[in-house]
Amino acid sequence: MGKLVVLNHPLIQHKLTMIRDYRTGTKVFRELVDEVATLMAFEITRDLSLEEVEVQTPVAKAKAYKIAGKKLGIVPILRAGLGMVNGVLQLIPAAKVGHVGLYRDPKTLKPVEYYVKLPPDISERDLIVVDPMLATGGSASAAITFLKRRGAINIKLMCLIGAPEGVKAVQKEHPDVDIYLAALDEKLNEHGYIIPGLGDAGDRLFGTK
Ligand code: PRP
Ligand code: URA
Repeated sequence: MGKLVVLNHPLIQHKLTMIRDYRTGTKVFRELVDEVATLMAFEITRDLSLEEVEVQTPVAKAKAYKIAGKKLGIVPILRAGLGMVNGVLQLIPAAKVGHVGLYRDPKTLKPVEYYVKLPPDISERDLIVVDPMLATGGSASAAITFLKRRGAINIKLMCLIGAPEGVKAVQKEHPDVDIYLAALDEKLNEHGYIIPGLGDAGDRLFGTK
């Protein structure tokens, strides 16, 4: 079974509280999501493999380290996942960005795919799938399934807030995928919204409500 890690760094928790607050408007909401994504990415990338290299400093040769292998891939689940991309890129500017377009059918709550565009050599990259909300887990599970069908092997899932139902669903369908959250909330309501959550992440990011 994949790990579930709740990143309880004080800065992440403080900013998440502001993100949850219904009085936080679109501009600040977007900035905070960006900042939390950067902080989460810092924690999540702790275990990236390094390779030894030699570097010439102004005074001598030094044994040093670089991240090994192909550039990491960030895969936002459209649309709300887009809000977390720049924050990760702040830290890993050379990362490649793939997109998976999914929306939840409001009646069935099932994910519907409408767009997929991924970087090449996806099987050789460490991938971080990003989406602010892990509610039923349908969208994240489907996105990960699409990535695996296209050859992805090494996948992490990074969300701001998860519901126990969503965590369970992803762990069941994708036991190889570690899940990183800023908070694990209480439950889902009858419309599939996370309680207490933050409301509709896409609408709050893009001002569509
Ligand atoms: C939201 C959210 C996730 C999904 C989570 O997207 O960003 O992708 O719901 O719910 P689930 O775990 O039950 O699948 P939404 O479908 O509202 O689309 P949007 O990003 O375009 O707003
Ligand atoms: N999608 C959201 O944007 N918010 C939720 O609480 C659940 C799914």
